[in-house]
Amino acid sequence: MNRRQFLATSAATLLLPPIARARPALRLQAGPVIAHILPEGDALTPLLGFNGSSPGPEIRARQGDRLSISFKNGSGLRSTIHWHGIHIDNAMDGVPELTQAPVEPGDTFGYAFAVPDAGTYWYHAHHRSWEQVARGLYGPLIVEERKPPRVDRDITVVLDDWSLAPNGELHDSFGNRHDFSHAGRMGNVARALFSGETLRQGDRVRLRLINAATARMFPVKIAGGSGKVVAHDGMPLAEPAPLGATPLMLAPAQRTDIVLDVTGPVSFALYTAQGYHGLGTIAVQGSNPAPIQTPIAPLPPARVQTPDSDGATHLDLVMQGGAMGGRHGGSDFWAFNDRSGIHDAPWRRFARGETARIALHNDTSFPHGIHLHGHHFHEIREDGALGHYRDTTLVDPHGTRDILCVFDNPGRWLLHCHTLGHQASGMKTWVEVA
Ligand code: C2O
Ligand code: CU
Repeated sequence: MNRRQFLATSAATLLLPPIARARPALRLQAGPVIAHILPEGDALTPLLGFNGSSPGPEIRARQGDRLSISFKNGSGLRSTIHWHGIHIDNAMDGVPELTQAPVEPGDTFGYAFAVPDAGTYWYHAHHRSWEQVARGLYGPLIVEERKPPRVDRDITVVLDDWSLAPNGELHDSFGNRHDFSHAGRMGNVARALFSGETLRQGDRVRLRLINAATARMFPVKIAGGSGKVVAHDGMPLAEPAPLGATPLMLAPAQRTDIVLDVTGPVSFALYTAQGYHGLGTIAVQGSNPAPIQTPIAPLPPARVQTPDSDGATHLDLVMQGGAMGGRHGGSDFWAFNDRSGIHDAPWRRFARGETARIALHNDTSFPHGIHLHGHHFHEIREDGALGHYRDTTLVDPHGTRDILCVFDNPGRWLLHCHTLGHQASGMKTWVEVA
């Protein structure tokens, strides 16, 4: 199998490793794991994981909980953990450049933080993440509502791809300059991994999709039921949107929650120029004797500070570089506003509570999913209205997206492309909220 041939692998025959579970007062031990990614009987894939699996265990908390997580670094690599999407205490954000020194191999670091918002989040390594996330150092972090909506099942769906050699091992082309300057490290095998193996006909299931890939955009089509999109990046939609025929797009690090009434096996397919590629299926066994009949309702609303649009500071952030982008300087292929990487001074200082409207201009030939740490922001729709409330927004090549953010969480926060090779080669900056 060569690198571009993942369509040749039939996902339906794969052995799907279930996502394991864990409870608060946790210990996350990073270390080598063996995964069965290629079809059964084929070679095994050595990865890194937490507590013996990749994805790492699903951490489940209740909104408002305080988690205390002891990270034991058995990965053999210097590392940190970032809790993506959580409006976290800055010191616990897991960013080597800004909030903590990397944890040395063999050392332990105690993360302790509150989870103020319900929703679907995830955790991942944030040191040399372009390599460590690709090696498997990530897992789901689910914060349950105080009053969760009534569903029969709640299943996490991790989307990822892996760049595998025929013997099952990861291609060791991490940090490849061609990948960095183009679309990032693309896998040749793409899959959906599930925290639950079966459903019943008539079940109402909450599906929590997480794109954990370092670079691949996942336009996915879901078959096997009718349902609605109820949240993006953990945050509820005021009006759930019908799950239509067009694929749902998840950029790296984005999440989408769906409530689905099951009518058959629930399958996930990746849309590609060559057609749909199966990512995996949740089987149906038996039927639910008493299906939930009520309409799919919005999730309980999130705490959202109403942004002061009129008083907002207006800023522009221009994404530059990449192949065909005319930037050729050292290892930094990418930039924001002509600057690559992290400097001593932040791109911008905000007074705590300040609202900013930031126009994200994509002046490159590639899509970029831009992530702000410690906050969510509103996407501004074409008609000027407030759109989705997200922590990662996808900006198309040569497109612009305006966002409105209330910078209310004090600290030093990274702002970067979640195509991790782009982040590594310049497309990142930081802001300070004081
Ligand atoms: Cu999901 Cu800076 O990270
Ligand atoms: Cu990018």
